[in-house]
Amino acid sequence: MRYFGADYNPEQWPEAVWAQDVALMRAARVNLVSVGVFAWSRLEPAEGEYRFDWLDRVLDRLHAAGIGVALATPTASPPPWFTAAHPDGLAVTDQGVALTHGSRDSYCISAPAYRRASERIAAALGERYAEHPALVLWHIHNEYGTGCFCEHAATAFRAWLARRYGTLEALNEAWTGSFWSQEYHDWAHVRPPRATQYLPNPTQALDWRRFLSDELRAHYVAQRDVLRRYAPTIPATTNFAFGAWVPVNGWQWAGEVDLIAIDCYPDAPGRRGAEQVAFAADLARSLAAAGSTGKPRPWLLMEQAANVVYTPGRMLARAPGELARHTLSHIARGSIGAMHFQWRAAPGGAELWHAAMLPAAGPDCRAFRETVDTGTLVARLSELDGPVSAPVAIVWDPEAWWAMRAPGLPSSDVDYHDEVSRVHAALYRAGITADFARPGADLSGYPLVVVPALYLLAEAGAAALTAYVHRGGTLVVGYFSALVDRDLRRPPDRLCGLDDLLGLRIEEFRPMPPGETAGLSDGSTVSVWRETVHLAGAVAEVTYTDDGGPAVTRNGRAWYLSGRLDPVALQRLLTRIAAGTGIVATAPDGVELIERGDWLVAINHSDRPAGVPASGVDRLTGDTATGTVALAPGGYAVIRRTRPG
Ligand code: GLA
Repeated sequence: MRYFGADYNPEQWPEAVWAQDVALMRAARVNLVSVGVFAWSRLEPAEGEYRFDWLDRVLDRLHAAGIGVALATPTASPPPWFTAAHPDGLAVTDQGVALTHGSRDSYCISAPAYRRASERIAAALGERYAEHPALVLWHIHNEYGTGCFCEHAATAFRAWLARRYGTLEALNEAWTGSFWSQEYHDWAHVRPPRATQYLPNPTQALDWRRFLSDELRAHYVAQRDVLRRYAPTIPATTNFAFGAWVPVNGWQWAGEVDLIAIDCYPDAPGRRGAEQVAFAADLARSLAAAGSTGKPRPWLLMEQAANVVYTPGRMLARAPGELARHTLSHIARGSIGAMHFQWRAAPGGAELWHAAMLPAAGPDCRAFRETVDTGTLVARLSELDGPVSAPVAIVWDPEAWWAMRAPGLPSSDVDYHDEVSRVHAALYRAGITADFARPGADLSGYPLVVVPALYLLAEAGAAALTAYVHRGGTLVVGYFSALVDRDLRRPPDRLCGLDDLLGLRIEEFRPMPPGETAGLSDGSTVSVWRETVHLAGAVAEVTYTDDGGPAVTRNGRAWYLSGRLDPVALQRLLTRIAAGTGIVATAPDGVELIERGDWLVAINHSDRPAGVPASGVDRLTGDTATGTVALAPGGYAVIRRTRPG
């Protein structure tokens, strides 16, 4: 079975509306809803005083309609009584401003009172609903990511640092305290990275991000363990925010959740939006695999927007069919369903204008009809199964991302997420599906590994890449990689920690001003970034036309890209390198291809008809294709392939 549904927040409407909700959910084939995500003030209006009667009725009603429930713990939104009783449980910004109640995520994750209140409400829900027949999943908290810089946080940060470093000497060494008089001689003087006069200490800032991810995880684990006591067989998870905001280290969380759940809100329409969907889905699948010892954990798209694409400053209506195309892409890439935020358009409040499966216009509108069509599509994908075929791994690391957020780097135009997205998109456009891998992972199953802008690379990560190449793997390393270790310190005698493997020496970085390009010997161009590189064993595959210096190099199976290639050239180069490892790229322009077990999913994101080579039966139309599958503009096909012979 595939899940189809949404966050369902019925506390926003009079009970009379609930019957219509459930009837329309059934019409849309909704079979799972997340309930209670922000309902703390309704569930516990005063400390220790619980009101579950309304939630009983919601769950009973859903169950009677055959709709399962992902029951949330509401800890992402503490109620007003909590913050009134515990002002020290509210967040303080890095500027020292104590925030007031009036939004969600108003808490300090390290405040003892908040921790206790969170576990208490989780226990109350566990006790009440563990046996409820509608319960399918625990949905703990919502999009973990909120930090605080108060004294509780400072105490917890110090304890975390003491566990990491043991001594102040080790901390001073890691933080390069010798520069700008930052050597600590008393733990009490170590603080969170609050606002500073000038450039902050980058390692302190990075350790803070690491600490925050661990601290948030501890809050999750405590609730999960409470719920497990009441309902040991019900899986538990939390929904990871994903986009340009990655507040926790998913690699370290993956083993703590029973399924990986992600929220995905592309911020562009059309092809770029489709690429963002594929990126998020591939990352979710990779986290699910990384968190498992045997069979990969499942993963679920927990939130997408039903009828709007949020671009900066504008809510664009989704193009006709786009919701179905995005949903199909997620499921083809491994999701066990497609959920949305939220079921019914809000009557008021901060997200009044947010998209919903059931829009403000009611059921008689295009957007709801598309929701119903998408529900039908999802129901028909139940057989689509088998491992997603992904012959390439992209090494991806939130720590490298956080480290690159520091000011004072050579070019603020080199953005980690942007660099990784460019590589993922180049492979995607060629029809090559990629997994993501954490630094240090065993990469031996992949014919090709790409490492874009991995600024921070610790020893274990470098050793894994070296072992991978020595065992016959093909590696492509991009500029701005392996420049610093886990403490953000440079190797003493060189710019790049992988230069022996790559057979070169980097003499100089040459960041480029906006608008400037440099030509290459193969007719392509670079912009934003280039370097002066000397060969030390590698050969130059492509050179800069102005000074003849190496631009793209190859040392056996280890490639290096010293500049930012234009997107077409990047796709051409990666496709060529992939072909050398036996990976065949066959996607026509604008067509997304995913192979999964016996299945081939083809999605045409272009406005032209397209044809894809395949033979088999289309699960959606029943048509048999021999040799070519025809795709209408915006159309898609889910083919169970006929194996030759
Ligand atoms: C996140 C949250 C939801 C909602 C949406 C809005 O994904 O989890 O509660 O705020 O954003 O896009």
